[in-house]
Amino acid sequence: MRRVAILISGRGSNMSALIEAATAEGFPAEIALVISNRSDAPGLANAQANGVKTLVIESKPFGKDRAGFEKLLQATLDEHGIELICLAGFMRLFTAEFVQHWYGRMLNIHPSLLPSFPGLDPHGQALRAGVKISGATVHFVIPETDAGPIVMQGAAPVANDDTAETLAARVLSVEHQIYPQALRLLATGGVEIKGDITTSSAGVDAEDCLIAPLVI
Ligand code: GAR
Repeated sequence: MRRVAILISGRGSNMSALIEAATAEGFPAEIALVISNRSDAPGLANAQANGVKTLVIESKPFGKDRAGFEKLLQATLDEHGIELICLAGFMRLFTAEFVQHWYGRMLNIHPSLLPSFPGLDPHGQALRAGVKISGATVHFVIPETDAGPIVMQGAAPVANDDTAETLAARVLSVEHQIYPQALRLLATGGVEIKGDITTSSAGVDAEDCLIAPLVI
């Protein structure tokens, strides 16, 4: 049973999906701790309601002193025997040192099919690019934002009348499916990093393809 910390800054819907998945019999990871860098993150109450320990480490007082914030964060993770980190809408950049320390043990989720549309407003970027399929990506964290060896992706079709909000909602339900599966894979040792990519012990369904738009 791997001990996992989830780091949030806001709503925490991915956090909730991970917490729920981890309650299933035989899930190989335990959500031992939720840490928010904002005391007003709505996700905190949800974690508590599910019996998960929460802590707030405010990042604002540290300003640009990223290392100072991370020293406190690392001490907290050590104190709780944390082995894996899941970033779930955690809106603070890390130093290269912190990322290096957790390399291969820290996951992030981003709502696009990376390497397309990293950074801010991924759904607006997808709509402006006119892609017909978007989705979500779980990846290992590297110093570069929304990049790093990809563990799992899930696709969602883009509709003609989508707005950033409607597309975000469709992709979010994909996020909630793939993040727990990616954590399961990592926690069971089913992911191997080979340079910039990963290989996985899990198979693929060759029939499972998504085509959009659909002409019947
Ligand atoms: C999610 O859509 C996640 O993919 C995104 O923030 C949202 C957090 O929602 N993350 C990024 O854009 C990372 N660059 P949540 O708090 O409900 O999980």
